[in-house]
Amino acid sequence: MASHKIILGITGGIAAYKAAELTRLLIKNDFDVQIVMTESASHFITPLTFQALSGKEVLTNLWKSNASNGMSHIELSRDYDLIVIAPASANFLAKLTHGFADDLLSSLCLARVCPIAVAPSMNMHMWTNKATQRNVSQLKKDGVLFCGPDSGEQACGDIGFGRMMDTEELLKSIQNHLTPKILKNKKILITSGGTIEMIDDVRGITNLSSGNMGAAIANTANSMGASVTLITSKYQNFSENINVIYASNAHTMYDAVLQHIKDQDIFISVAAVSDYKPKEKFKGKLKKDSLNLTLQLTPTIDILKEVGLSKNKIFKVGFAAESENLIENAQKKMKAKNLDLIVANLIHESVSLEDTKVSIIDKNNVIDLPKSNKIIAAKAILKEIAHRINADK
Ligand SMILES: Cc1cc2nc3c(=O)[nH]c(=O)nc-3n(C[C@H](O)[C@H](O)[C@H](O)COP(=O)(O)O)c2cc1C
Repeated sequence: MASHKIILGITGGIAAYKAAELTRLLIKNDFDVQIVMTESASHFITPLTFQALSGKEVLTNLWKSNASNGMSHIELSRDYDLIVIAPASANFLAKLTHGFADDLLSSLCLARVCPIAVAPSMNMHMWTNKATQRNVSQLKKDGVLFCGPDSGEQACGDIGFGRMMDTEELLKSIQNHLTPKILKNKKILITSGGTIEMIDDVRGITNLSSGNMGAAIANTANSMGASVTLITSKYQNFSENINVIYASNAHTMYDAVLQHIKDQDIFISVAAVSDYKPKEKFKGKLKKDSLNLTLQLTPTIDILKEVGLSKNKIFKVGFAAESENLIENAQKKMKAKNLDLIVANLIHESVSLEDTKVSIIDKNNVIDLPKSNKIIAAKAILKEIAHRINADK
């Protein structure tokens, strides 16, 4: 079952094409999306595009009702968690302010029983016009959530406020708005990404970890209200209020962990830290004619074990990527490193992929989750952690 049901209302503006990308992102992130378009919106992009992306009939007509009692305009918002209007035209904001209900989208907004968010998109002079600004301030008083607009170059060539918020940012605002703050007041330290141990100035020992799972956990923990510090080897798209520290190898990652672990409530080690490093690093670039080269390796520091065996009272979570005997090996690792919880996944089902299939293991239980994308898995993992931490109080 999808985590949230939203109505995505699309109105007539140049940015209507961006709603296609937003629809794709919402579906990828486990939203059940019902598209409703104004008549003007369908001059910019066809309902067929959204039907293909959402897998559902796109609703456009007040008089062609899908509800059994013929009252789609009232029925629709009953069953949904949020209405998002993106792009929201100047005209639609004016209609929303004054309670107009002359088409399906404006009628269902007036009849809504769920919250509403708008992502305005218009020419900068339309945006700064006193009439629009009056409407915006009234809508804010009425509890309408505003996402953007952003400033920048516009389709007409003007530069200023009025661009629709970037779709990835809009997705984050929507997720943030809908996510219960189950990790409020909690501090979480996360490590993420595959490390690299340099052999010479350009080559290194690394692994296939993409950092996607760590990024999904960090962004989701942030939207659940946690204060997140992320130590990572990968440059990725992180929520703005995450404290991101880059560390490329086991040694620098360990230093960063030591520096930040004090006062944390939870430590989640998602990083695939190299187990070995070259005994010595060669200066410059090794030449191909260095035949019969033997690389001597030495173990790196085991960050998770160090944290696990420390006296620190934080809730400790590890990840185990295994090629066989998944649960058994993960349970052994949990015990050896003194962890409260371990997330086990098979390498061929998770490493460097968008999807994953994980089992969440503690001292008493094994919870097998179905295959899903990493954001959905992150939500489930963090819910289990929050459940245990809040039960400990
Ligand atoms: C080419 C073109 C581009 C437009 N772009 C925008 C826009 O970006 N934002 C906006 O508020 N209105 C824009 N308009 C005007 C709206 O389409 C118009 O106000 C329309 O009535 C909005 O209808 P709706 O709010 O029911 O979707 C544009 C009109 C045209 C012809």
